[in-house]
Amino acid sequence: MNINKIIALAVTSLLAVGAGAAPKKKAPKVRKSIASATVGLPVEQRVDSLIKLMTLDEKIGQLVQYTGTGYNPDRAGAIKAGKVGSLLNEIDPETVNKLQYEAVENSRLGIPLVFARDVIHGFKTIFPIPLGQAASWNPDVVREGSRVSADEASSAGIRWTFSPMVDIARDARWGRIAEGYGEDPYLTSVMGVAAVEGYQGDDLTRTNTMAACVKHFAGYGFAEGGRDYNTTWINDGLLYDVVLPPFKAGADAGAATFMCSFNDIDGIPSSGNRRLLRDILRDQWGWDGLMVSDWGSMNQMIPHGFAKDAKDAALLGALAGVDMDMENHLYDNELKALVESGQVTMEDIDAMVRNVLRLKFRLGLFENPYVDLKTANRFYTPANLDAARRAAEESAILLKNNGILPVAADGRKILVTGPMADAQHDQNGTWCFDMEKAHTVTPLTSLREIFGNNVIYEPGLTFSRDTSAEGISRAVAAAEKADVIICFVGEEAVLSGEAHSRADISLPGAQSDMLRQLKATGKPVVTVVMTGRPMTIADEVALTDATLYNFHPGTMGGPAIANLLTGKVNPSGKLPVSMAKMVGQMPLYYARKATGRPHNEANEVLINDIPLEAAQTSTGCDSYYIDAGDRPAFPFGFGLSYTNFSYGSPTLSSDRMTADGSITVTCPVTNTGKREGAEVVQLYVRDLVGSRARPVRELKGFEKATLAPGETRDVTFTLPASALAFYTINNRTEVEPGDFNLWVSPDAASGTPVTFSVTE
Ligand code: NOJ
Repeated sequence: MNINKIIALAVTSLLAVGAGAAPKKKAPKVRKSIASATVGLPVEQRVDSLIKLMTLDEKIGQLVQYTGTGYNPDRAGAIKAGKVGSLLNEIDPETVNKLQYEAVENSRLGIPLVFARDVIHGFKTIFPIPLGQAASWNPDVVREGSRVSADEASSAGIRWTFSPMVDIARDARWGRIAEGYGEDPYLTSVMGVAAVEGYQGDDLTRTNTMAACVKHFAGYGFAEGGRDYNTTWINDGLLYDVVLPPFKAGADAGAATFMCSFNDIDGIPSSGNRRLLRDILRDQWGWDGLMVSDWGSMNQMIPHGFAKDAKDAALLGALAGVDMDMENHLYDNELKALVESGQVTMEDIDAMVRNVLRLKFRLGLFENPYVDLKTANRFYTPANLDAARRAAEESAILLKNNGILPVAADGRKILVTGPMADAQHDQNGTWCFDMEKAHTVTPLTSLREIFGNNVIYEPGLTFSRDTSAEGISRAVAAAEKADVIICFVGEEAVLSGEAHSRADISLPGAQSDMLRQLKATGKPVVTVVMTGRPMTIADEVALTDATLYNFHPGTMGGPAIANLLTGKVNPSGKLPVSMAKMVGQMPLYYARKATGRPHNEANEVLINDIPLEAAQTSTGCDSYYIDAGDRPAFPFGFGLSYTNFSYGSPTLSSDRMTADGSITVTCPVTNTGKREGAEVVQLYVRDLVGSRARPVRELKGFEKATLAPGETRDVTFTLPASALAFYTINNRTEVEPGDFNLWVSPDAASGTPVTFSVTE
């Protein structure tokens, strides 16, 4: 019997099954269906076999994703009729099973639904926001956080997350900088791949995995002025060298799905960008996953001024390569007529459906469509909480320490103050739909466990935008009784994330004033920041005695920060973004071009030092701001420790290599302090002359090395010439022979270069 006959028989038998009652507590058995008829065959064959049986309406149904409305007659009816391919935002396992039952048992072909959700940095156990995870410079942190997210979310029935976001962000005004891995394409690629691996595991058919969704394809982080959803201006050099590499890395890592972005590039919204979605992603990169629209993003081609009406938007989306319609209501309403009129062919539709079915087979949904209610809702296990705490510890960045940290429990009185000291909701940050704040442990709770009655608590300001002068006075009064002040400042969760861009990225409310008044008491002040973005806090750092910077740290932020402040754990995070002195420096990133007039810092004259009626050219004629210079407050890659590290000079296996060769770089790094610590050793290069001018530095490798006191370790990197390729004047990515500088350094602004060449 050939496969089509087997399937035909299976279909006949399954069509005979009448509509059963939706299951209650117990997950129903999967009936004998097409899936069982094709078990063991390669996925492509299973997909093809199934497509042959589908009507046009059923095919279109697979391309439709709606948001959850629970189990109700309308939704159940649509599913039974084969009009829904996926649901997002259903998170109750019993409801998931009831809806799935309608798809599997009561639709004609029994094709399971795939349930999706934005599980961005944890489902119930919340990890640091992705920007914080990047600050760990440890891909294991990201991989483990994603694995835990998948385990928890899949136990509620979610098998598809809309994460990781690998948009490069170089403007801290953009609220979504919180959701990505920062400004650098190499660091973002490494972290994005780790996230894909964590979510999907080795075997996506395991029921505790989720399909990853690499988003937002592409260029969304370059929103002009950092205003969310804004237009972008991205030339091909920027596109190929900076925007696309993390997406390519995600595709190569086997990410099962991608999401296209809201923005346009050069007037073409991504949902209608055939070059991106087909030519680059499918034809050049050979990716065979599912492309989902962003929420309503195809429809939004109308206000963009790119599509004239709904039919046009559906046509543009389908032809460009959007396989699944997330809440646009375009494919369900428009696609059939477009096929009937011949504007969209059946081959087009089949290619889209194939991408959806491939995902469902890859996830093993035909075999395991239901949540096992016996093991459902596996949340907050001790191991998960422990992983979240370790992630928060590794993500914290020590920006300054004049010696006040760590603070020992030696009987001194500690004033714990500031709006973020006990902010169970806000310390979790953006994108925590499923977070339960009662499970969040705050620094106040953890510090009380360590310091007991020696903690004096007076928040002063009760939320980050608070401007209460009385509140500040109360904190100042409380400071009189304390030996050390620890002031927790930052941003509430809602001040970053999607649609939460800010034009002013300083501390909101009266927090800066509060720090000034606390410092005026003469007591040592430790500033702990919890925030969704790199902020302009250079003055506050200069004012106070130590600063520990945390991107919103999640459920276990409290114990992590307490361990760091008291020295149980040594800080090891480094900035995944440059921190500006002033917002006017945006966009700000270390991998900038030199310009024809690079700034000579030695001759820098800043605004208050310019004499009256100074001659026009007396400040020099080079590229800097007369009020901010040309440097960040803290450079990309920067972060201190409770110990110190010194770097020797790097040695190269050879000072030349061919375009298909590689060299080895070795640099001795010594822990010169008295305690163990982990140092993120960074490898940068500069291509000195290119057919297009190259950035002043580019990250090409890093390693987080844990060193005992006094230990020297040779940190070794392999640098293949292929890592030096860029989008050249020939409009392709290739390696150009020439001379390069190379640094092994603790951040993007220090170190002494050595040189090497790439030869013909
Ligand atoms: C819009 C966001 O841009 C996207 O990242 C998210 O996954 C979808 N909404 C679904 O919630």
